[in-house]
Amino acid sequence: MTRVAILISGGGSNMVKLVESMTGDHPARPVLVASNDPTAGGLVKARDMGLETAAADHRAHESREAFEAILQEALEDAGVDLVALAGFMRVLTPGFVSAWKGRMLNIHPSLLPKYRGLNTHARAIEAGDTEAGCTVHEVVADLDAGRILGQARVSVLEGDTPDTLSERVLSREHELYPLVLRRFVEGERSPLLI
Ligand code: GAR
Repeated sequence: MTRVAILISGGGSNMVKLVESMTGDHPARPVLVASNDPTAGGLVKARDMGLETAAADHRAHESREAFEAILQEALEDAGVDLVALAGFMRVLTPGFVSAWKGRMLNIHPSLLPKYRGLNTHARAIEAGDTEAGCTVHEVVADLDAGRILGQARVSVLEGDTPDTLSERVLSREHELYPLVLRRFVEGERSPLLI
């Protein structure tokens, strides 16, 4: 059984979908939900689902490395095999990323390689794109640049704002991430396009 940690910074809607998916004959189980923000709403949701949680406020640590050392300890204590970033908004250092090489996934709200980084929906609308979406990828030291494991597309509609577009993309994220996580645990590395 693959032991999965989910890292969040906010509301954790993707985390909830991942947790809900890991039941029955699924080859993975969630063992920890961790956050860099002790007030993240998703931590409450995780506890309500009976999961172990950990929070380390990144602002209370003098360096990224000091914060990541706490995180690493929590992951090791929980015997984690695989890390799923789900709305985790801290950039991780190359050292941390290399410790989890091939064992850390992220969901990003754009059709990578377009729009790495922040404000993806505003940038897609601004560019006049007719399609937007989300991508699950392996995490590498370069931001949002790892191997693409799955993508879901939506149309950009006339009059879309970053908020309306992000709402539609988020509901596709909820479909995509559980599918890709399961395939990944089962050893599949080809991209899933939905
Ligand atoms: C999601 O849209 C996710 O793709 C995005 O944050 C949101 C988290 O929502 N992640 C990033 O922008 C990472 N760079 P959630 O907390 O409800 O899952």
